[in-house]
Amino acid sequence: MAAYPAMSTKNAILKLDDKEIVLPIVVGTEQECGIDVRKLRDETGYITFDDGYANTGACESKVTFIDGEKGILRYRGYSIEELAEKSTFIETAYLLIYGELPTAAQLSTFKARILDNSQVHEGLRIALSGFPGNAHPMAVLSATLNTLGCYYPDLGTNERTHDLAKFDATAAVLMSKVRTLAALAHRSKEGEPPVYPKPGLDYCSNFLHLLFSQPNADYAVHPEVARALDLILLLHADHEQNCSTSTVRMVASGGANLFPSVSAGVCALWGPLHGGANQAVIEMLEEIHASGDDGSKFIADAKDKTKQVRLMGFGHRVYKNYDPRAKIIKAQCDKVLKVLGINDPLLAIAMRLEDAALNDPYFKQRNLYPNVDFYSGIILKAIGIPTEMFTVIFAIGRMPGWISHWKEIAETPKQKIHRPRQIYVGNTERAYSPIAQRS
Ligand code: CMC
Repeated sequence: MAAYPAMSTKNAILKLDDKEIVLPIVVGTEQECGIDVRKLRDETGYITFDDGYANTGACESKVTFIDGEKGILRYRGYSIEELAEKSTFIETAYLLIYGELPTAAQLSTFKARILDNSQVHEGLRIALSGFPGNAHPMAVLSATLNTLGCYYPDLGTNERTHDLAKFDATAAVLMSKVRTLAALAHRSKEGEPPVYPKPGLDYCSNFLHLLFSQPNADYAVHPEVARALDLILLLHADHEQNCSTSTVRMVASGGANLFPSVSAGVCALWGPLHGGANQAVIEMLEEIHASGDDGSKFIADAKDKTKQVRLMGFGHRVYKNYDPRAKIIKAQCDKVLKVLGINDPLLAIAMRLEDAALNDPYFKQRNLYPNVDFYSGIILKAIGIPTEMFTVIFAIGRMPGWISHWKEIAETPKQKIHRPRQIYVGNTERAYSPIAQRS
């Protein structure tokens, strides 16, 4: 394969004052083109200004390709539709982390490593039980993922060559324990005694067991529920340079090891415009239901620019077509609701919102379709997962993506620390005034 990004024979010409600057064009494997401005500041003193980075390529990456206009999502070249149909979360995690689908032997070793790591150190479990009962599980997860590194001083040293040599072990620790920590965060909040992972169960069935079993009664895992959870994790496993992944890469670029890097990813994911949207969807539905609205007033408010209301679970920064993950998850959503025989008034409102928004010119003109979080929120609610845990589930799913992006940074020779510039718009220089003279 040729080295990418390939330099195109075309250039861009930028006219600045009376000078013409020639800027090379770089081309990726899917023919997306970028203007290479790496020498712009040195040559002109100017920087580019792109608030929110919507037009900025911050790195080269081989992990995930998205074409938001066409609704395409591929992990390592494989379409999300094919992976959703034929693969599992753990196999897809291997693909993301190592770049290729595993052989049977590789997959079995990977699964065995994950299983071996499913317990957390008793000290960490006790520390976790010390969080106040009203702590948000995302805060607990991010804190405990960082703390987890303290129990593995040899895996997270911030010495790049060493950390890379130990990478397989660290990746397995994180893939496995993120699930155990998430379940413990939930149980501790509910004041429930811990249950321990079971060797015979697959990744998602074990998670459901860790969440819902009691020491004296095992939770009966319905295969369609385990499949739905597996699909949610697989569909969230990576999404190229989103807010949390860029955060992981940013932290990693300074030389930090995997534990603090993914812990920072959890913090970034928490916001309602990013991973917190699945929680926000259910809160929105509850608010609509409590107010006696059937959804029509809420839709009207979401279109009204004088009101700060958004239809949560609709729209996407990248997809200006249907989110391909939403199509897949919608089908599974229908199956789970049928199997569990759920008859929830919130779900009826959700279906009404979906139908209205898909046919309303405001949403159509702005390409605002339901995104993956709209349906994943509904499935998670139907399974009985508490709303505060929804973003935690997203974080478990995104773990292989974060790990693969950390690896990409760590393996890049001459990796630069990420350090954006700014356009300063604050005060110009002024003299310090003594406190008695301030009004
Ligand atoms: N409800 C009502 N109007 C909306 C919505 C919405 N959910 N999303 C965008 N708009 C309008 C917005 O007001 C603007 O209208 P106008 O052009 O008249 O000013 C137009 O659509 C474009 O909005 P934008 O904010 O420029 O779009 P963006 O690409 O920057 O924002 C978004 C993307 C996801 C932040 C936004 O659509 C949103 O807030 N959605 C709700 C939150 C949500 O579901 N987030 C989860 C995203 S998927 C998870 C992930 O991958 O992280």
